[in-house]
Amino acid sequence: MSAEIIDGKALAATFRGQIADEVNQFKTQTNVVPHLTAVLVGDDPASAVYVRNKQRSCEKAGIQSTLQRLPAETSEAELISIVESLNTDSGVHGILVQLPLPKQINETAILDVVNPLKDVDAFHPENVGLIVQGRPRYLPCTPYGIQQMILSTKMETAGKHAVILGRSEIVGKPMAMLLIQRGQGADATVTICHSRTQNLNEIVKTADIIIAAIGKPEFVTADMVKPGAVVIDVGINRVNDRLVGDVDFEGVKKVASAITPVPGGVGPMTIAMLLKNTLTAAGIQSG
Ligand code: GUN
Repeated sequence: MSAEIIDGKALAATFRGQIADEVNQFKTQTNVVPHLTAVLVGDDPASAVYVRNKQRSCEKAGIQSTLQRLPAETSEAELISIVESLNTDSGVHGILVQLPLPKQINETAILDVVNPLKDVDAFHPENVGLIVQGRPRYLPCTPYGIQQMILSTKMETAGKHAVILGRSEIVGKPMAMLLIQRGQGADATVTICHSRTQNLNEIVKTADIIIAAIGKPEFVTADMVKPGAVVIDVGINRVNDRLVGDVDFEGVKKVASAITPVPGGVGPMTIAMLLKNTLTAAGIQSG
C-alpha cells in the first residue's frame, strides 16, 4: 500500500483563492481593507523567511500587510510599547509577533499584551480559554490548517485514537483541544506524548491519526505506525541542507493511508489560516 499524499500546497491554494474572494466582498461591503502587522525581532533567518511568506500571501489575497522589524537587542519594555500602540491603531486588525523572540524578552509577557481581538495567532490566554471552552474566536493557524487537512481526507475521526507528539502551546495543546471537540473532523480520543512519556512507541502504534510536532528529524518510523493510519507531519528540520519533517516520509508512506509531505504539507496551510483569521479579525473590528 502507498499512502495518499495530502497536498497542503494545493489545498492551501484553494483556501487562499476562497479567502481572496471573501476579502474582495468584505472590502466592497465595508470599505475596509483587512490589515495584518507582523513584528519581527532580531535576524533569525528562518523567521525572516516565514514572515516574508506570510506577507506575500497577504498581499496576494488583497490583505494589507506591514512589517515592523526590530533589532535583536530590543528590550521587553520596548516591544510591549510597540504592541500597545498597534493595539490602539484602528487601522490594524491583526497583530502577529513572530516567535521565537530573543532571550531577553519573555514571550508570555508579550503575548499577554496583544489585544485579544487582534490576536490572529490565538495565543492570548483569553483566546486559548475560549478554545478550551469550545467557543473559539480564532483558531491557532497550524492546528486550524491540520484540521482542514484531516477534513479533506474525508476520514471518520469520531472515536478514533489521535496521538499528538509534542506538547507545545502553538501546536500540541491546541491540536488536542480541536480534536476532542464535538463535530466533523473531531470527536477523537486524544493522547499527547512528550519527552517524558513512557512507552511512547507502543502508544504511537495504537494511533489512527498521528500528529508529529516535536522537532526531531524523521523521528516517526514505519515500525511505529499502524497500517492505515493518517500521519500529519508538522516538523520542519534542516538536515545537511535538506528540509525533513518529524516523520520518515519514505518509510511511513508505505504503511499509512494518508500522509503530509515536508515541505508542501502543513506549512502552506498554516499561512492560509492566518489569512482567514486576519479577515475574521477585520470583520469583528468593523462590525
Ligand atoms: N513561530 C513559529 N510558528 C509560529 C506561528 O504560528 N506564529 C508566530 N507568531 N510565530 C511562530
